[in-house]
Amino acid sequence: MLKELLKNRIEQSNGWIPFDLFFNTAMYEPGLGYYSSGTYKIGQGGDFTTAPEISKYFSKAIARQTNRLLEMHDEPSVIEVGAGKGTFAFEYLKELEEIGVEIGQYYILEISADLRDRQMQSISNLPKSIRDKVTWLESLEVDPIDGILIANEVIDALPFKRFTIENNQTYELGVTLKNGELEEAAKKSGKKLSDEIEIISSEIDRQFEEGFISEVRLDFQKWFKAISGMINKGSMIFIDYGYVRNDFYRSHRSKGNMICHYQNQVIEDPLKNLGYQDISASVDFTQLANVAIDEGFFIDLFTTQAMFLLNESSLSMIGDIDSEESRMREIQKLKQLIMPDYMGDVFKCMILSKKISKDNFEELNHLTHTL
Ligand SMILES: C[S@@+](CC[C@H](N)C(=O)[O-])C[C@H]1O[C@@H](n2cnc3c(N)ncnc32)[C@H](O)[C@@H]1O
Repeated sequence: MLKELLKNRIEQSNGWIPFDLFFNTAMYEPGLGYYSSGTYKIGQGGDFTTAPEISKYFSKAIARQTNRLLEMHDEPSVIEVGAGKGTFAFEYLKELEEIGVEIGQYYILEISADLRDRQMQSISNLPKSIRDKVTWLESLEVDPIDGILIANEVIDALPFKRFTIENNQTYELGVTLKNGELEEAAKKSGKKLSDEIEIISSEIDRQFEEGFISEVRLDFQKWFKAISGMINKGSMIFIDYGYVRNDFYRSHRSKGNMICHYQNQVIEDPLKNLGYQDISASVDFTQLANVAIDEGFFIDLFTTQAMFLLNESSLSMIGDIDSEESRMREIQKLKQLIMPDYMGDVFKCMILSKKISKDNFEELNHLTHTL
């Protein structure tokens, strides 16, 4: 079905579609895409896993870390973008209740109807006083809130363009048909993409080598503008895997930063397992910072996930686990989130704020100077 739809789209577009259009169809086509058809499997035994699915202490630690941002407002609200199975919201809200933090509303903005159903299921297990605060947004047209917005591993799941360099010129990678099968094909890029690649190249002070392949989120500012328009006063917290621009486009990443997952294995070919495999690409945190500054935000924090989670009080509740065996089990899970060889260093946390006081995370090791 998905394959037929893609074939039709390719035929209607004179035999070629750009990668970002392929991505949007493969991931988000209502009823058919990976995230929209019930095939999305995260957690144990799934295609890949995310921090809230690994350990509930991820969400709890974030509740404790963001408390200082919430208490700046009289009646703060929280918006979660891309809530997956609803696991983060469930644990985060429980922890806020436990540490006695009152919020007004908890909004969820979710693109996938299937995941929205799963989130509702998860939230229905919370006590009524908490679950009554949760509302799913139908669109971005909401009265801007005072409070915070949280997005864990959402930017990596946004569409991106892929490009390559041939004869010193920028080519855009996309998908064509050969003998009725989908196949990757490059086409001389349009002006918007080649101008952007020139800007990146001059920023990092390096000409891309012949055959170099990478990605860029060309419409990122549009997305950020829409999302950040939901915040009147407060902060946006983005946690994701990625690099500063210089590292994102390093010559040793000559095949790019895209990664596909199917049944917990890394797959090279994004055209395989259509609708059944996850496709994502690292975040260019310099792009996120630049766009945020353009939209009137300041960088409140940029650090590694490990540094963000390992704050003195944010994980102290692990010590309250009575059984030695359970405590050790939880510590093992946490290690996956914190150890540099796993998610600790490659995952970063960026907090962007507006209309609030500065220096809210002074005690943490900032990487902002590397952006
Ligand atoms: C990799 S999953 C992460 C899920 C969850 N945050 C977690 O950590 O387990 C990406 C999530 O973002 C959602 N998503 C992707 N693009 C979105 C968009 N433009 N607006 C809202 N949600 C989006 C997906 O449907 C999915 O819920």
